[in-house]
Amino acid sequence: MTIQKVGVVGCGLMGHGIVQVAAQGGFQVVAVEAEQKFLDGGLARIDKSLAKLAEKSVKDGKATAEAAQAKASETRARIVGSTDRKTLADCDLVIEAIVENLDVKKQLFKELGALCKPSTIFASNTSSFPITDMAQASGRPERFVGLHFFNPVQLMKLVEVVRTAKTEDDVFAQARAFGEACGKTAVSCKDTPGFVVNRLLVPYMAEAMKMLERGDASAQDIDTAMKLGCGYPMGPIELTDYVGLDTTLFIVEGWTKRYPNDPSFAVPTLLRDLVKQGKLGRKTGQGFYKWEGDKRV
Ligand code: CAA
Ligand code: NAD
Repeated sequence: MTIQKVGVVGCGLMGHGIVQVAAQGGFQVVAVEAEQKFLDGGLARIDKSLAKLAEKSVKDGKATAEAAQAKASETRARIVGSTDRKTLADCDLVIEAIVENLDVKKQLFKELGALCKPSTIFASNTSSFPITDMAQASGRPERFVGLHFFNPVQLMKLVEVVRTAKTEDDVFAQARAFGEACGKTAVSCKDTPGFVVNRLLVPYMAEAMKMLERGDASAQDIDTAMKLGCGYPMGPIELTDYVGLDTTLFIVEGWTKRYPNDPSFAVPTLLRDLVKQGKLGRKTGQGFYKWEGDKRV
């Protein structure tokens, strides 16, 4: 694998986790944010997460306190933050994890295409948009893949590696090897709406919101039913809060526009209303449920 230096654009919920697992995988990482305060927020989350992992490995008897601390410090030293996109120019791989808006993502890749060295591989962490559209905008569709990580990135073991009709075999193999070096199991997927997981998961979350809207069951009962009835770690309503109501709405709205006649992609009214009220879930402390930090109240 020729990938050594990795850039991650966006250091929010997903981006900070991708930065961290890439650094844990031994890569040099540049985290680029739009504003300093968001960068500081993302890096602070990484510090907290590395401290948690160190604490856990001591508790589990996997390392001494000194060794765990040294490992966390080494990982952290591989990460630099910046608000200047030019720092991405010499990266071997740049992963985009910004807001789920196709026009904004395409504009970013157009700029990155002009800025980065010709060999740089581009990847998007999009939940739902066509990789092909962003690949086209970058001007180098043959060096473009989807690398779809899952939330929380530090704990979820999967990465979907998405290839388009134009992705070169070697680029795809390198992206897959990168995902595995980050400690994930990689699955391959074609460039289809939602790839494997979200094509199944998001309509299920939307259906649960429609159930709530109709008054068929309470949020708590829907979540308890799916946890105890199916063994899922979280119910669909709590999971929507966890993912972010804004991100979920962007995903469903994007699909509604592209596939207006498919009822499984219809937008739940409740989702639209809560987003309008600024109730975005865990990230704002209120969604369907109340949250304090990472915990549901
Ligand atoms: N960094 C490091 N360590 C962390 C951590 C972090 N960010 N978060 C938690 N931990 C540690 C905790 O300290 C804890 O350690 P101990 O076992 O030593 O106490 C351990 O990890 C487990 O943490 P929790 O007790 O908080 O975790 P849990 O057992 O309740 O599981 C969960 C939490 C993994 C999030 C689980 O609830 C889960 O799997 N939920 C479903 C998540 C899911 O479905 N994600 C996919 C969303 S969809 C998506 O991502 C795609 C998209 O495009 C929208
Ligand atoms: P988020 O809102 O938490 O973070 C996005 C970050 O990108 C913000 O910090 C914002 O300041 C930054 N940003 C926006 N435009 C930028 C630009 N032009 N340059 C640099 N930084 C910019 O969102 P998120 O939940 O981390 O989602 C990011 C991407 O990952 C989306 O495409 C989303 O669909 C996808 N995704 C989300 C989840 C999830 O569960 N939330 C899971 C998998 C994939």
